[in-house]
Amino acid sequence: MGRLANRDIISIKDLGRDQLEVIFAEADRISKLSDEERSCLCKGKTLGYAFYEPSTRTRLSFEAAMASVGGSSLGFSSTATTSTQKGESLADTIRIMAGYVDVVILRHPLDGSSRFAAEISNKPIINAASGTEEHPTQALLDIYTIKKEKGTVDGLKIGIIGDLKHGRTVYSLLYALIHYDVSVYLISPESLKIRPESIFEIGKLIPFTEITDIEECIDELDVLYVTRIQRERFTDQEEYEKMRGSYVVGLDILSRMKKDAIVMHPLPRLDEISPEVDGTPHARYFEQARYGKDIRAALLNLLLNSND
Ligand code: NCD
Repeated sequence: MGRLANRDIISIKDLGRDQLEVIFAEADRISKLSDEERSCLCKGKTLGYAFYEPSTRTRLSFEAAMASVGGSSLGFSSTATTSTQKGESLADTIRIMAGYVDVVILRHPLDGSSRFAAEISNKPIINAASGTEEHPTQALLDIYTIKKEKGTVDGLKIGIIGDLKHGRTVYSLLYALIHYDVSVYLISPESLKIRPESIFEIGKLIPFTEITDIEECIDELDVLYVTRIQRERFTDQEEYEKMRGSYVVGLDILSRMKKDAIVMHPLPRLDEISPEVDGTPHARYFEQARYGKDIRAALLNLLLNSND
């Protein structure tokens, strides 16, 4: 098994099932430690965050995770107050940050940005989302949520609904699911279907069906993973307006789901899940966000301490 110590986490495709399981086991172990034991794990280590795009959960959960294992964090969550405004390149910003910290988490609007940063940095880079390409640590916490809430990933039927063309969490999730025995429904309006190159890649490894109407699979699903229409990725705002509200998960849809089916969402949600769903036993998206802290603490401990 490839070691995790000191490596970059750029694409979920770089991790095998054995490595995913190591991270999940570490999250389980860490979650049972006392605060005091936990705070010794990364004492004296510093995380740097370079966020060129907005974020709430990813940045806060990384910071909370690092604080819980005894480390500290520094960085920027908007380029407005950084030298990027003076024209400094991503390469130079990464070089400088890597000189001050032990690990860098990067969120950037360009596909390939994290891979590029990893070539420049002498410290591990964690991709905290790159363009429409990938969001590997979100996939870690998504699979971890399914394991915790359903007891297993193997054998499940998973529906992924929404803006499958632009949603980077969808790509990382699918690339992680290829290690499990699952079948997948990809549910989206015709113009927001999964990108063809990814269909080619995942199609060889997991059975999937592309549909436009959730009614075709709703009663079979164990997990419904909802995503938002990614307004910022549309070049034509009229097209966005047309797509907006094209699917809404509400109580009517829930009433046709299996009793123990769960609804997930990487968040933020707009109007694709009605607020009435929040109080039902199906809703798991807030738990999902909470698991992000333990998963990211586990990942940081595995990367920063050569003990795996
Ligand atoms: C996602 C993202 O940034 O890709 N958010 C997150 O990190 N949980 C999902 C989204 O923005 O829709």
